[in-house]
Amino acid sequence: MNTILEQLESKRAAARLGGGQKRIDAQHAKGKLSARERIEVLLDVGSFEEWDMFVEHRCADFGMDQTHIPGDGVVTGYGTINGRLVFVFSQDFTVFGGALSEAHAEKICKVMDQAMKVGAPVIGLNDSGGARIQEGVASLGGYAEVFQRNVMASGVVPQISMIMGPCAGGAVYSPAMTDFIFMVKGSSYMFVTGPEVVKTVTHESVTAEELGGALTHTTRSGVADLAFENDVEALLMLRRLFNYIPASNREKAPHRPTHDAVDRADLSLDSLVPENPNLPYDIKEAIVKTVDDAEFFELQPDYAANIVIGFARMDGHVVGIVANQPLVLAGCLDIKSSIKAARFVRFCDAFNIPILTFVDVPGFMPGTSQEYGGIIKHGAKLLYAYAECTVPKITVITRKAYGGAYDVMSSKHLRGDVNLAWPNAEIAVMGAKGAVEIIFREEKKDPEKLAAREAEYKARFANPFVAGSRGYIDDVIQPHETRKRICRSLAMLKDKKLDNPWRKHGNIPL
Ligand code: COA
Repeated sequence: MNTILEQLESKRAAARLGGGQKRIDAQHAKGKLSARERIEVLLDVGSFEEWDMFVEHRCADFGMDQTHIPGDGVVTGYGTINGRLVFVFSQDFTVFGGALSEAHAEKICKVMDQAMKVGAPVIGLNDSGGARIQEGVASLGGYAEVFQRNVMASGVVPQISMIMGPCAGGAVYSPAMTDFIFMVKGSSYMFVTGPEVVKTVTHESVTAEELGGALTHTTRSGVADLAFENDVEALLMLRRLFNYIPASNREKAPHRPTHDAVDRADLSLDSLVPENPNLPYDIKEAIVKTVDDAEFFELQPDYAANIVIGFARMDGHVVGIVANQPLVLAGCLDIKSSIKAARFVRFCDAFNIPILTFVDVPGFMPGTSQEYGGIIKHGAKLLYAYAECTVPKITVITRKAYGGAYDVMSSKHLRGDVNLAWPNAEIAVMGAKGAVEIIFREEKKDPEKLAAREAEYKARFANPFVAGSRGYIDDVIQPHETRKRICRSLAMLKDKKLDNPWRKHGNIPL
């Protein structure tokens, strides 16, 4: 008996060593943790239950029959984060460069299938040289099996990807279909084709870091949500994100009691918006002063910063926040910001997270680059996302809500549940100056007359009361009571039920 137990332990020890100490040391030398160390940091201490430690590849070509490494380059299983169940796979770069074989893909699929059955999120820690070259089409098939599961799990259980090394070619499409992507600065990169192929085809010289590093994807492409300095920081922040998301589309996000009083008034909010409507202010100040304990988990802060998205809590309940940012491009909606916010709204809707929208939007960004880039279709994404959304929607107009952008930003007409405005809100087709220049075109040469018209237009429309008189705004509130009003609204909406008509699926403008 003892010998069998000893054999088991030595088999386990061999599997735990992956590609061997030398390769683990090389991984450390690059500032990276090993696949197992990453799981240890991510999960609660001692909670990891590993599966398929003894799985091996079935390839006999190119000398592969001589090299079998138990686990086949990916560590899979389940555990807990702050006591909540999560399934994990962690690719092991020390084993065939973490390359994905048929067996490696099967291990990933197994945890994904189980996560779907029990209703728990899946976290993938990616560090891989891509398709296992020796296996050819079998490994491509393996990728597609994973992709199919990513799509089936989308909107059913949350899926989060952490890129902690190479992720190239077809490998990028699994993370791309997950809900959130985190990256590690300096050691991770994602691209469809690498720098050499780029050089050959387009004659561009670019480094891997420039092409697909963490900064590229969190500032230029918007592919990734957040970038971190190293593996440990990234994994600890992933644990924080996990606290805001529910286990599945049948659950609510975890409630966390707070000592922050629901009726806490913040008088500084009364003077946050400058008197001059052309001066900017930081909408994040309004967010932080409104939410529980000033804690706001922002996503994509360095991409399309004219819109702010992220999670926070109100009276302990998780909310998704979307806010125009007057500090950047005056808070205009453009292609990037519409896509960024639309995807976030859809995540919240899929996973029962109420949406709180702060509006200060002068309209859509004008210009040929926007029109040629398809702002019509991309702007429609955000409109569509808000309109189809059935979770509680609370909107606070802090200043401008002009034109079509007024409609888009969770307006009453798109089934906004509670729509509030601060007293200096301006809800109109456009700013007073632009408006009078169009409707009183013939008076353009008479600045005095035009100024009088502008003042008249402002008095008539640049306030929240016209919208209020039609019931488009439920109430005009003092900025300092924003928190209380939102908390009460959320409590009122706790059991909201709203269904969209049956259909196979809608056809969101892509
Ligand atoms: N299939 C099989 N083995 C792979 C592999 C793959 N796709 N990618 C890497 N490996 C192996 C390497 O052969 C090497 O094995 P060894 O330690 O026995 O020599 C090991 O993984 C580490 O790779 P190495 O190239 O030494 O690491 P690196 O950090 O210098 O480079 C990559 C990493 C990913 C840039 C490089 O390995 C690479 O270009 N891989 C191929 C990527 C690719 O084209 N994938 C297929 C398309 S999806």
